[in-house]
Amino acid sequence: MIIALVNQKGGVGKTTLALHLAGAWAKRGRRVVLVDADPQGSALDWSALRADHGLERRFGVIGLARETLHRELPELAQDRDIVLIDAPPRVAPLMRSALLAADLALIPVQPSPFDGWASDEMLRLVADARDFRPSLRARFVLNRCGARTVIARDVAAALARSQPPALPVQVGQRVIFADAARQGRLVDEQAGGAKAWREVLALADAIEGMAP
Ligand SMILES: Nc1ncnc2c1ncn2[C@@H]1O[C@H](COP(=O)(O)OP(=O)(O)O)[C@@H](O)[C@H]1O
Ligand SMILES: [Mg+2]
Repeated sequence: MIIALVNQKGGVGKTTLALHLAGAWAKRGRRVVLVDADPQGSALDWSALRADHGLERRFGVIGLARETLHRELPELAQDRDIVLIDAPPRVAPLMRSALLAADLALIPVQPSPFDGWASDEMLRLVADARDFRPSLRARFVLNRCGARTVIARDVAAALARSQPPALPVQVGQRVIFADAARQGRLVDEQAGGAKAWREVLALADAIEGMAP
């Protein structure tokens, strides 16, 4: 399965969730590779930082920030269970190529009842990719969720009618995600990271449990 994390907005958690999902599935014995399709190379930097800190390699990270992703990835995916693509913000041709390669587009969003979760342009890119690849599915992933119940209620209402649908799990706003990343770690390698890691595992389960 090829999963692309996409959103034209930066800072929504594409890289963080791509790394953590890769780590979760690798720990479960899946053959995982993460493709860093962002010219900024943050996932590659994370991997290098890990090596600098003498931490074990949990999964491979390869850089492929090219518009030919959709032509290269099927072969790479042949002997892998899961390929995660960490897509770049803004660069539309790269994002289009990532979507054309993917079975599932995960769109991390910071849920707010006050503005659209994703730009119209972003949703149009997904719809366009679907014309070429009708099997492409898309889901919002609620990331950086706060605990404020009033907002949560509004968000729940938005959730119920969102298109594409949102996965029925949430990842909280937890500073440990940033702390871990700065040391080339995932939250399960960080003291105090158990709650955050449980959210990651629940997200991985929700993706695996998606109806076919
Ligand atoms: N659930 C979260 N809680 C707290 N901080 C987060 C969370 N998800 C991401 N971050 C932080 O937000 C920043 C942007 O996340 P990142 O994954 O790099 O986003 P993107 O790849 O979409 O630009 C990073 O500093 C990251 O550590
Ligand atoms: Mg990123």
